[in-house]
Amino acid sequence: MNTTKLTFIADTHHFSRTLAKPGRAYDLRSGSDQKCLNETGAIIDAAFSYIAKSDTDAVMIAGDITNDGEMVSHEEFRQKLYALQKKKNVYIISATHDWCCDENPRKFEGDNVSHDVPTMPHEKLRDYYFDFGPKQSCSEFITHLGTCSYTVDIGENVRLLALNDDQNGKGRAGFKDDHFDWIENQIKKAKADGKIMIGMEHHLLIAHVHPLITGGGTCVGDREIVASRLADAGLRYMFVGHSHMQAIDKFTSEKGNSITEVNVGSLCGYPSPIVNVTVTDDGLEIETDHVKNFVYDGEVCDTIAFTAKKAYDLIDRVFESVDMGKKEFSDRLTALQLNGEKLAPLYYVAKPLLKAVDKMTVKDLYKLLKTLRLADNVQKSDIIPYANKPVTDFMHEFLLSFMDGSTKRHEEGSAYYNIVMSVGDALVKIKPCKLTGDFRQTLHNVVCGNEYNINHCKI
Ligand SMILES: [Fe+2]
Ligand SMILES: [Fe+2]
Repeated sequence: MNTTKLTFIADTHHFSRTLAKPGRAYDLRSGSDQKCLNETGAIIDAAFSYIAKSDTDAVMIAGDITNDGEMVSHEEFRQKLYALQKKKNVYIISATHDWCCDENPRKFEGDNVSHDVPTMPHEKLRDYYFDFGPKQSCSEFITHLGTCSYTVDIGENVRLLALNDDQNGKGRAGFKDDHFDWIENQIKKAKADGKIMIGMEHHLLIAHVHPLITGGGTCVGDREIVASRLADAGLRYMFVGHSHMQAIDKFTSEKGNSITEVNVGSLCGYPSPIVNVTVTDDGLEIETDHVKNFVYDGEVCDTIAFTAKKAYDLIDRVFESVDMGKKEFSDRLTALQLNGEKLAPLYYVAKPLLKAVDKMTVKDLYKLLKTLRLADNVQKSDIIPYANKPVTDFMHEFLLSFMDGSTKRHEEGSAYYNIVMSVGDALVKIKPCKLTGDFRQTLHNVVCGNEYNINHCKI
């Protein structure tokens, strides 16, 4: 039986340290991001070293390779790619963060943020990364942006369909008609050539956890139509990035054709996944590994612990700011892309509330929900195993489950499940939160996971 070993990573978001001088501006920016900035080079080096020593036949990177398309980040990243290419075949696609689509490049020094940062034009990306896909391709399609999609043989009987899905011409991610015609022809050609075809693009075809969270702009526009067209043309596998979350799900078209999508999380954020795939005639074996540690300024850092803290610091930094005054509270909300200026007057209400939650145990929370008559679905016995656990620890665990594909699962009806759902039900009942039953379903999906074990499964 033929076997091909492949490795997928995504959203490396390399950030050149030349863009950050120490100070409050960088601290605010870094503290508002779930993924790393200054540490990206060190994490990528550790991951590339792991991959270079592995038995993989080819490495694929599913877009957002740089922080925000800064030329200097591209220059440093391409050097790393050339070094890896001495050991392994490397194929990349670019995505919207590789040409700074929000036209807001930034560098940080002291208290100041400045924008005089040269960025990569989208029409230059194809030539800049010519050696990592287009050069080896069997067929290539140049999009209206000048970016490219291509096919390349990556194993004796395996062909990669590498797609740039930056714009569909209707204001969303996806493909224009001529691009889609080329894609469908390539899927047919692979079948005629006796190749197993594996797709890679940046945006999602499937809103994995729930459309409330990972629908909308996280997916390609008209996601079900696009997924159906690909499945009906005969594509069975797609690897994507973008959401910075791990997930696997299957979509079946109205005609009964299925496509399974593997969402690869960000390499430079929790849980720093490296997705190893063994392709056989029977399907794909998925084994997700992680960068164990990386060396940053001479210090060895545990990657999972470091990136997990980076993620839940998003919550902790807001809690922490209430003791640092109204301005810091407002600035930290702004750094989280919230309207800090508008929310600043809430500081005097938020301060006692957040301080109370910060000190709260699960037992205290239960008492509060009971007083408010919002604890219908949680029994006193559910609280016992978690009684003295801080509520903030519960929030951290939930956030990590959300990002790592529910690696740690809880049964429906378990104590953990009932506690999370009762908080969800309470939030739905509090009208200003404007949450609906969809929110409950999202919580359910995060706590229970689905049929696929992201770390080890067959698709
Ligand atoms: Fe990204
Ligand atoms: Fe993205």
